[in-house]
Amino acid sequence: MTDISPLFRPFRLHGMELKNRIVMAPMTRSRSPGGFPNDENVAYYARRAAGEVGLVLSEGTLNRRKGASNDANIPLFWGEQALAGWKRVIDAVHAAGGKMGPQIWHQGMSRKPGTGHFPDAPCDGPSGITLQGKKVADEPSEAEVLDMAQAYADGASDAQRLGFDCIELHGAHAYLIDEFFWERTNQRTDRFGGSIERRAEFAAEIIRRCRAAAGRLPIIIRISQWKSVDYNAKVAVNPEELERWVRVLADAGVDAIHCSQRRILEPEFPEVDGPRGLNFAGWVKKLTGLPTISVGSVGLTSEFTGAFRGEGSAAGKLDETLERLDRGEFDLVAVGRAVLQDPEWALKVKQGRLDDLRDYDAKALQTYY
Ligand SMILES: Cc1cc2nc3c(=O)[nH]c(=O)nc-3n(C[C@H](O)[C@H](O)[C@H](O)COP(=O)(O)O)c2cc1C
Repeated sequence: MTDISPLFRPFRLHGMELKNRIVMAPMTRSRSPGGFPNDENVAYYARRAAGEVGLVLSEGTLNRRKGASNDANIPLFWGEQALAGWKRVIDAVHAAGGKMGPQIWHQGMSRKPGTGHFPDAPCDGPSGITLQGKKVADEPSEAEVLDMAQAYADGASDAQRLGFDCIELHGAHAYLIDEFFWERTNQRTDRFGGSIERRAEFAAEIIRRCRAAAGRLPIIIRISQWKSVDYNAKVAVNPEELERWVRVLADAGVDAIHCSQRRILEPEFPEVDGPRGLNFAGWVKKLTGLPTISVGSVGLTSEFTGAFRGEGSAAGKLDETLERLDRGEFDLVAVGRAVLQDPEWALKVKQGRLDDLRDYDAKALQTYY
């Protein structure tokens, strides 16, 4: 019998009390025409909170930089109308007994020029270099970089004012913050470029500014080794480099690190601790002592990028993930597609109804419930 109890222990993060260890992973749905959260969005998130998700992370929601996105159906996290929509979301989540944070996002050079809410706005990136390594624009000045950092902090301030419980900074998957981490896209020679510590400085600047703007809120940053254009890319090729990278984030005062992997059971450095060694979140926790969130194919047998190619995934076992959580390898478990498809996924696990957990159907992306 699967022992589900490790998932249902409470957890405390910088004053935020979570009733269990289940996090809804941030998932872009492009269901907010004009960028404004609407009735459907309110109901969608409230349903997951009512379904016993401990912490709901919103889909990536855009900061105020005009070049932040490629899609005008992605919600904004600034401006009166969008924030009024988000206020309704958080109030509904609280009424359903949940906790929630917005994932604050800027797509950086991943955005195709001429797209999104403000097609004429230029793209932002560390060095004007595309994800393929091609120089297409001038490097932004230090003042512009600082405004890019402040745009996240302005979002944090609004999140606190609206009553959200935490924020997550999207620092993964080759979007803006990750483009600073990654050598290919960051060729700066000032304090934001060069060594791994200096490439982490943009994120550190954001974290410090978020703390100044919204001191009460727990700050989570999501990072990944993999990039949307290269699943084998690594910012840190060994534990020593990883420590240098995440130490900067810890020293800047981040409260937790969300370590994005496509498969939660995959060891990060098997050459060091073997084929069943620590995963990415396990290493980050070991090296910083900070709480970590782990993610990737929880409850399913294949990884999420297939979902965008119209692939489903068979339901899978939770046992080893639960064992690792129980051992303290990581603290929280984010669940993406399974919770996208089934708002009651967490409730079913809590009630021990594991046989009721269904295969993930690729068609779930076309529905919004
Ligand atoms: C439809 C969809 C949209 C996603 N959008 C985001 C996003 O906005 N921000 C983000 O950090 N990750 C995003 N992801 C990645 C998920 O947060 C998660 O890491 C991934 O789906 C792996 O979890 P899973 O295997 O449980 O689905 C998205 C994934 C899916 C399937």
